[in-house]
Amino acid sequence: MAQNHLLLLPGDGIGTEIMAEVEKLIAHLKEKGLADFSFDTGLVGGSAYDAHGQAISEEDMDKALKADAVIFGAVGGPKWDDVPYEVRPEAGLLRLRKDLGLFANLRPAICYSALADASSLKKELVEGLDILIVRELTGGVYFGEPKEIIELGDGQKRGIDTQVYDTYEIDRIARVAFDLARTRDKRVHSSEKRNVMKSGVLWHEVVTDVHKDYADVQLDHILADNCAMQLVRNPKQFDVIVTDNLFGDILSDSAAMLTGSLGMLPSASLGAPDASTGKRKALYEPVHGSAPDIAGQSMANPIAMLASFAMALRYSFEMIELADKLEGAISSVLDEGLRTGDIMQEGCKKVSTAEMGEAIIAKI
Ligand code: NAI
Ligand code: MG
Repeated sequence: MAQNHLLLLPGDGIGTEIMAEVEKLIAHLKEKGLADFSFDTGLVGGSAYDAHGQAISEEDMDKALKADAVIFGAVGGPKWDDVPYEVRPEAGLLRLRKDLGLFANLRPAICYSALADASSLKKELVEGLDILIVRELTGGVYFGEPKEIIELGDGQKRGIDTQVYDTYEIDRIARVAFDLARTRDKRVHSSEKRNVMKSGVLWHEVVTDVHKDYADVQLDHILADNCAMQLVRNPKQFDVIVTDNLFGDILSDSAAMLTGSLGMLPSASLGAPDASTGKRKALYEPVHGSAPDIAGQSMANPIAMLASFAMALRYSFEMIELADKLEGAISSVLDEGLRTGDIMQEGCKKVSTAEMGEAIIAKI
């Protein structure tokens, strides 16, 4: 078994509690001969600031660059509200994203059948749902120049943001989406607004072009407003959706909420493939934050964190079967009625972070 190397960055608040379950999982996989991961642990966010006055140290950045994947908990909390802007907890995550070149944000929306009743949509619309939104993360209107507010003189001001995409940015995110679709249902919807945006016209053109290298994957184009409608009308029609930074921000949040609470939502961010090994830099993290309101009380739901680890197995290590097993374990523990407080339902059994984590691990 080849050894794969991880950097675990628990961060702050419930980050340390949910990462403890990842450590148990890694030990379990090794003991059962299912996978052999080595790992380092580092500090990020407020815990790093407390230790050495930075949101992440150069030493830990170096470890992140060398690891096959970074597993990230969560950062932040009221304790660090007044620290200087450059070293605030979020700066650690932003630095990681930037230095690892993580331009592709992956947000799945998976509906576990035991929780289908809790969705805002009818059960039959979401039961069995498994879609993946691939959002471009480093370009588009959030970063394009000019970006400013100018005085017009007569008491009027003008706010300007600029949507900019170059061919290479669209090309590389499209490749991520098509590559991922190959490990799934081999269908991609590309979403833009080419009817009213020039960047959308280029997006459509480049994605169509890249598709020539992926003839085995089905490509459909869908306007972003229609995509938003279809996501709540009939979400199961989608497999992979690839879209820009702004539309992806909105579509991924609304798709994720079809399926459950914040404590359930995993994510991944990927970079460019390495020229020699072909492996992408990657960071896996729950969508939620450090939940200071419940930190230190063993109440946190570890599922978003463990499901993020399942994404690492799937997308960084090609351990598809093991990823399926882990997701299956999460599903069956939910079927058995185990719930942390955030997803508690009538007639279910309320469990702690460790009880939930250990029940999932025991099924693998
Ligand atoms: P949050 O996601 O930490 O919490 C929002 C609500 O959801 C809270 O009531 C919390 O208890 C609950 N919740 C979140 N995750 C949960 C889990 N795994 N199990 C059970 N309940 C869970 O967002 P909030 O409160 O807005 O931010 C708290 C801190 O986290 C802030 O400092 C914020 O900047 C930071 N943050 C960090 C992120 C990251 O590390 N990527 C992302 C979002 C926020
Ligand atoms: Mg958002």
